[in-house]
Amino acid sequence: MKIGRNDPCWCGSGKKYKQCHEAFDRKIEQARVAGHVVPSHDIIKTPDQILKIKESAKINMACLDAVAEKIRPGMTTLEIDQIVYDTTKKMGGIPATLNYEGFPKSVCTSVNDQVCHGIPSRDVILKEGDIVNVDCSTILDGFFSDSSRMFMIGEVDEEKKRLVEVTKECCDLGLAQVKPWGFLGDMAEAVHTHAEENGYSVVREIGGHGVGVEFHEEPWVGYLSNRGEDMLMVPGMIFTIEPMINMGSNQIYTDQENGWEVYTLDGMPSAQWEYQVLVTEEGYELISW
Ligand code: MF3
Ligand code: CO
Repeated sequence: MKIGRNDPCWCGSGKKYKQCHEAFDRKIEQARVAGHVVPSHDIIKTPDQILKIKESAKINMACLDAVAEKIRPGMTTLEIDQIVYDTTKKMGGIPATLNYEGFPKSVCTSVNDQVCHGIPSRDVILKEGDIVNVDCSTILDGFFSDSSRMFMIGEVDEEKKRLVEVTKECCDLGLAQVKPWGFLGDMAEAVHTHAEENGYSVVREIGGHGVGVEFHEEPWVGYLSNRGEDMLMVPGMIFTIEPMINMGSNQIYTDQENGWEVYTLDGMPSAQWEYQVLVTEEGYELISW
């Protein structure tokens, strides 16, 4: 359906279309005609939605801050789950992973050769030298946030430390490429180039995603593409940058018993950081990390 120029804008601003998103839509249409993948209106957040998603993100970051403060050798990953659950509830939120498609816990904790979706357990005791990804996601008032950090337990050997640091650099370099009217491939190229230059591999099958109104929205966000490829970025889009970087090969498998936990096939370590990013008129805003 075509909107008239004097009709109210689709974004809900109350302004006339011609004074609101008309020029914006024309730019998107140009990119589409040029052969690019472009975002649909339903993944472009309104200012009001952005405020609410940011409130959710505050809880998400508070959870990871609380974990950062308490994580230590000897702690179980179930205790991390408890910290996340308690912090989220205290602040009025709901852990987004809890019962999500049957996931049983409030956070993912992925240790060493676990790539992602590790299930917190009283049997997983963190020990000196471990690296662990804590992936937290929150629902507040129906709005979603999602980010993750790596933690190094006590003294970690140089090789693992470098993996954790380089993976963070991959995210930072990817983040620096986020700007309106660029492409997700600009970000992806920065991520995989830096990983490969350091001798690492990038997991292909699992990626980031749009997030905010739903837990997982369009687009799917990969890290293997190159500049100018994948979806056009426009102001109001929110998505995650969350590459999984392996020290060895990029091959992975899923635990068939629980259907969730993903491991590297060669048993070598894997690292991941996750940023939740808003595309703005000027560039980007990091809303959760
Ligand atoms: N936070 C994870 C993500 O980045 C959540 C995966 S779903 C879960 O999408 F159930 F495994 F938690
Ligand atoms: Co995510």
